[in-house]
Amino acid sequence: MSALPPDYDSEPCRWQGWRSRRDVHDLIAPDLRGPVLDIGCGEGRLASLLADDVSWVGVDSSPTQLATNPHRPVALADMRALPFRDAVFAEVTHLWCLYHVADPMPAIAEAARVLRPGGAYYACTSSRGNDPELMPEGYPATTFDAEDAAEIVGAAFGEVTVERWNQPFSSIETREELRAYCRHHYVPFDRAERVDLPLWLTKRGCLVRAVKR
Ligand SMILES: C[S@@+](CC[C@H](N)C(=O)[O-])C[C@H]1O[C@@H](n2cnc3c(N)ncnc32)[C@H](O)[C@@H]1O
Repeated sequence: MSALPPDYDSEPCRWQGWRSRRDVHDLIAPDLRGPVLDIGCGEGRLASLLADDVSWVGVDSSPTQLATNPHRPVALADMRALPFRDAVFAEVTHLWCLYHVADPMPAIAEAARVLRPGGAYYACTSSRGNDPELMPEGYPATTFDAEDAAEIVGAAFGEVTVERWNQPFSSIETREELRAYCRHHYVPFDRAERVDLPLWLTKRGCLVRAVKR
């Protein structure tokens, strides 16, 4: 298993070319009261869904992502060395980002450090069995897949709750959109030419929640 190398500065066309219509952000945003630390905040999808009175801070290691993100304040930093004091945030999120580090444990320990006692932690990721219509052989293992996510987060926080999904989730209507999807998800390009449209993709993944004791 290996980390997915971050290419957000070198290949902006990959991640800018496709965007999910619904995502985990929609699920958790209504629960957040702030102050929220959004680690690996990217373009600011979570921040865009928060109520105006919810205090939010974003962290990301990609200058390109932070330049695209219209929300402030943000910090350019690595998730394994957060530039914040202990116990300052009520909620900390790792959404779709822990698979970019070789070992997620130091990053999760940093998240726990900056979280207040009683504060809520959220991490999400996809399964190696995601998109079986395009990847029947499965995606290559990463360092933070849904198969292991609960165990990894549990090692840092103790008790966790896990919400899993395994259902047809989004339809792709055009060949152009499918090509962009394949590029976005590192799916071999020829798969985009082989399947019939519209294509309903089965999304498999999980959201792990934990509370700092
Ligand atoms: C797939 S994007 C997810 C963005 C956002 N969380 C979302 O859900 O839309 C992964 C993000 O993690 C960031 N990232 C990758 N490695 C990082 C690291 N070591 N420290 C901080 N951010 C990192 C990337 O720059 C990118 O913005």
